[in-house]
Amino acid sequence: MGKENSYSRMLSEMNFVQFYEAMSLPVRGLIHSIKFNTIPFESILLSSSTLFLFHATKLDLLILGKLFGEILNPMSGFGKFIKISGYLVFPFIVWGLYEGAKIQRLKKRIEESLAIAGLRNVFGKVPTIAGIYPVDKETNKLVLNRSSYAVGDFVKARDRIESGLNSYIDDIRESRLKGTVEIIYSSLTLPTKVSFRDPELLDSKSFFVGATRSKEVTGDLDSTPHLLVAGQTGGGKSTFLRNLITTFYLNSKNTKFTLIDLKGGLEFQLFEELPRVSVIPNIERAIEELNSLQKELIRRMEILKKNKVKDIANIKENSSEGTFLRSRRLVVVDEIAELFLAGGGADSSKIIQARRILSLIARQGRAVGINLIVATQRPDSKSLDPQVKANLVGVICFQMQNDSSSISVLGNGRATDLPSIPGRAIWKEGPKMTEIQTPLLSTQEAEALIEKFKVSNSSAMEMSSK
Ligand SMILES: Nc1ncnc2c1ncn2[C@@H]1O[C@H](COP(=O)(O)OP(=O)(O)OP(=O)(O)O)[C@@H](O)[C@H]1O
Ligand SMILES: [Mg+2]
Repeated sequence: MGKENSYSRMLSEMNFVQFYEAMSLPVRGLIHSIKFNTIPFESILLSSSTLFLFHATKLDLLILGKLFGEILNPMSGFGKFIKISGYLVFPFIVWGLYEGAKIQRLKKRIEESLAIAGLRNVFGKVPTIAGIYPVDKETNKLVLNRSSYAVGDFVKARDRIESGLNSYIDDIRESRLKGTVEIIYSSLTLPTKVSFRDPELLDSKSFFVGATRSKEVTGDLDSTPHLLVAGQTGGGKSTFLRNLITTFYLNSKNTKFTLIDLKGGLEFQLFEELPRVSVIPNIERAIEELNSLQKELIRRMEILKKNKVKDIANIKENSSEGTFLRSRRLVVVDEIAELFLAGGGADSSKIIQARRILSLIARQGRAVGINLIVATQRPDSKSLDPQVKANLVGVICFQMQNDSSSISVLGNGRATDLPSIPGRAIWKEGPKMTEIQTPLLSTQEAEALIEKFKVSNSSAMEMSSK
């Protein structure tokens, strides 16, 4: 009753538009609820049947008769029809009102947080809400008309919008075509531990990047042929590389791996003795290996040229050249700054040559099936060749110490704002950025998965030739 009174008080204080909006609120709430299947049909039908039962047994007259008198006891057939219909429809109206009011409150809260975040135009108007759509049980999509704002303005206001929504934002993206910005938000927090996913669930070019609040994210070497794994110490770079290498080793039986770790080779030690894998622990060997990779790249390019195709996807699979090209090469460098900065005592001409080859792989590797994955704590131009960096289209960036490092990797300070949770990162795929928790695969777990393939193991050769 109290609710109904305040509803009628609200109506009396409104102008025409507000009056129309308030009157149509239950209907809009109901349509929204039916459209997105959030309506509890069973409970509503149960309420309708209970009311009908009240009518049939005349219990309603007994309880409410004094208050409503004649209305509850119509004489004419038409009056009875109206009364029964009213009983049947009433629970739907109440539900519509509840849903409509909920949406209205949420809209108001969003508009307030947009205003506090400074997203107000010269007329004092905030971006208008085009809709709020459920994505799944805990996740919603808020669509805003962008008006004169850039998507970056919404990204900057992220924290404010998050607190206004009382939720966690998963993604802010733009639909240029529609002139809208979509904000995916969820009431759930990100998990702090995500386990390694069985590679068999993926195809041979795909890898599990991690989990957001609402979904699992995978990447693939077709859309992100080269990857940068950046972040301050302890963020989870080497762990992520272990996850990637193990996934591809198990899933892509003809890929060959070159694993360069100039911090002593310890990170990749577990992959030693595996067929198809070379673990490179020092700069001299790294340079030798890069030289041979350059030769292979040139050979692969020549095959493409001879066959008059632009990349390996267009080469005939059943030719011997096709088989050669389709066996990928994965080059992984943990802490690339070791190669570029100190040089480990190698002479400078060799370092320059190594840089040149890495740059060549970054520029031309995609077409010929040579993929590059580099990790670094320091993403500055001295530690990582800008030309190499420009071609690393997929980025996993763990927490960064300062904005300038974050900006040099992501173009914004989001990696500085990440919580200090190992494995928490931003996955950037082209312009799209998503906060994720990367999978944890310990050295021991990885060992257990690959142990049977090692050459020291008698069954290894048979298995790896599968
Ligand atoms: N995805 C993850 N989930 C949970 N914990 C993780 C995750 N990744 C890493 N860790 C924890 O953080 C520790 C450090 O991770 P890792 O060695 O991968 O960091 P790093 O970025 O390579 O650091 P450095 O730059 O010093 O080499 C790991 O030993 C592990 O305990
Ligand atoms: Mg490391």
